[in-house]
Amino acid sequence: MATVTLRDTQQTLTDAGEISAFLAPFGIWYRRFEGSDQLPENATDPEILAAYDKPIQELMAEGGYVTADVINIKPETPNLDTMLNKFNKEHWHDEDEVRFIVHGRGLFHVHPESDAGPVFSIEVVKGDMIRVPKGTHHWFDLCADRTIRAIRLFQDVSGWTPHYTGSGTDTNYQPLCFGPMYMPARGM
Ligand SMILES: [Fe+2]
Repeated sequence: MATVTLRDTQQTLTDAGEISAFLAPFGIWYRRFEGSDQLPENATDPEILAAYDKPIQELMAEGGYVTADVINIKPETPNLDTMLNKFNKEHWHDEDEVRFIVHGRGLFHVHPESDAGPVFSIEVVKGDMIRVPKGTHHWFDLCADRTIRAIRLFQDVSGWTPHYTGSGTDTNYQPLCFGPMYMPARGM
């Protein structure tokens, strides 16, 4: 189950219904998919895509996504820090960012535009689906286990290039994950 944290007050939301309701005004979808424990950790990408074909097809129809793939990030992934440094600074995309977490966890931060609300984080874990709509100012960190395996849906893969805001807002918030391991400082 995901955890939403309002970073300035440290208020947290852990109930799926409350999280969905909180995120809806920002156009962010949050949903749970049950049954994710049935896949072994070493499942192949095609096995993962086959196991979740039904929700994938539903989301594709709902959001106009045309392709799906599986990203597999582990501590031993080559050039991991270079990859992570592309996405841990505030940015937006011309394409929705849709992730369905199969294994591991990750931490999105969202900075509502025009100060429509405070900066908040969304820690996503296995069985969580999130859609961050195009144009949303956000950044992403891994947690201390530096592991995430996720299905990604795309309308157009070329649209998923980060555009940096350069606001520096991301430097004001250390990435804090709740579990299973706590990440005390950025870059460690
Ligand atoms: Fe992004």
